[in-house]
Amino acid sequence: MNNPHYNSDDERAADVIDIIIAGHETSANSMTFLLLELAKHPEEQHRVNQELLKLAPEDRNSCEHLRNCVRESMRLWPVTAVGPIRVVGRDYVVPACHDSDNTKTDQKDFFIPKGSLVFMPSIGVYHNELYFDNPESFVPSRWENPSEEMKKVFLPFSLGKRNCLGQSLALSEMQSILSRVLVQYEFSVLDEGTTGYFLTLKPEGVLVKATRRK
Ligand code: HEM
Repeated sequence: MNNPHYNSDDERAADVIDIIIAGHETSANSMTFLLLELAKHPEEQHRVNQELLKLAPEDRNSCEHLRNCVRESMRLWPVTAVGPIRVVGRDYVVPACHDSDNTKTDQKDFFIPKGSLVFMPSIGVYHNELYFDNPESFVPSRWENPSEEMKKVFLPFSLGKRNCLGQSLALSEMQSILSRVLVQYEFSVLDEGTTGYFLTLKPEGVLVKATRRK
């Protein structure tokens, strides 16, 4: 806070927001959502625990099934639910959709003028049954054999020059913490709480009980 190299308090505040919101809230909330889903689905929790135990302790943070649980929870509960936000740099035409036989549907081309603010809410895409069967359910195994469409639309860290700077850190942080916690503890739901949104999607009032495994 006292670093003299900042040019203004706005710059200082921007860095504080980066650290607290971008760097901490995102991964902390993603892990809470996953622990809640596993507590709600004991059969899924049992499976990930068994998959982790098959591996040597030093290999557990690269457990593929845990990766699928993390993906599935980030799909159901994308912390950056409003998705990427951009100012359009030039006039842009989004072409009308085509049917699978490549004939035009009755939709019209869509014109976005230069300077428009656009965003693509990932929560809408991730809960759309066009891309995900049974989209409201927590099904980690859907990622064992994902369709090309699923891979194309699932972009929790976004794409392009301004994609998430911390994605490798976030993923290894989540794998490393969750692999340890899920081997040592069993989770059950005390209070499912609700979901809130302020800058990130967040679990509110969630209470899960952790019982040390024998
Ligand atoms: C589960 C965890 C996380 C998720 C889902 C996530 C997701 C995202 C998304 C969707 C963006 C916007 C990209 C865009 O507009 O195209 C973003 C930006 C950013 N993230 Fe993350 N993030 C996570 C963790 C982290 C962590 C741990 C850090 C830092 C240690 C971090 C630092 C940043 C920064 C600095 C940006 C802005 C990049 C820029 O504008 O150039 N994020 N993140």
